[in-house]
Amino acid sequence: MSDFYKKILDNNKQWVEQSLALDPNYFEHLAQGQTPPLLWIGCSDSRVPANEIIGAKPGEVFVHRNIANMVVHSDMNMLSVLDYAVSVLKVKHVIVCGHYGCGGIKAAMGNQSIGLIDNWIRHIKDVYRLHHTYLDSIINEEDRFNAFVELNVKEQVYDLAKTSIVQEAWKKGQNVTLHGWVYGLNSGYVTDLNVNISSEKDLDLVYQLKF
Ligand code: CO
Repeated sequence: MSDFYKKILDNNKQWVEQSLALDPNYFEHLAQGQTPPLLWIGCSDSRVPANEIIGAKPGEVFVHRNIANMVVHSDMNMLSVLDYAVSVLKVKHVIVCGHYGCGGIKAAMGNQSIGLIDNWIRHIKDVYRLHHTYLDSIINEEDRFNAFVELNVKEQVYDLAKTSIVQEAWKKGQNVTLHGWVYGLNSGYVTDLNVNISSEKDLDLVYQLKF
């Protein structure tokens, strides 16, 4: 067994011991159920761990991660997580958190084929196409990359609002707000993009559902 593999098993034992030293009932309490106030939709990138960034303890954040924090409206995995979080757990906030330096976004800006993932990346390219006039006007590549990361987060927040799951919750008077953040790999800080959506009125009419 590799040293790393052995180390993570040892780490787990240490973590259990430390947690129990602080609170002997810690795991018994956690096992009784969860009522997290937040659903986090983030990138799979190993450098953007949801709980650590926001100082959330086990039980405080429901998490879905995929390449480039996408909200693809035919993705049963994402829809199932969203439905459970909103309809059953009744989370108050859903945060889409992108990050600067995102490999998925970088790939979507280029033309190199990288295999099966090309088909996932196409969803990101659709965002570029939607904003190509603005993005193509940014000459500096780094600036264009950063702007694309931010625009992609905003579009995913709108895509959440377009789902029947979120709109039905709003219709029932449930208090759930959608937010867009970008995490800085270099700094550790998140930037709130201030796309705080809590009503279908923020959507183009064609996306507003009647129940
Ligand atoms: Co990423």
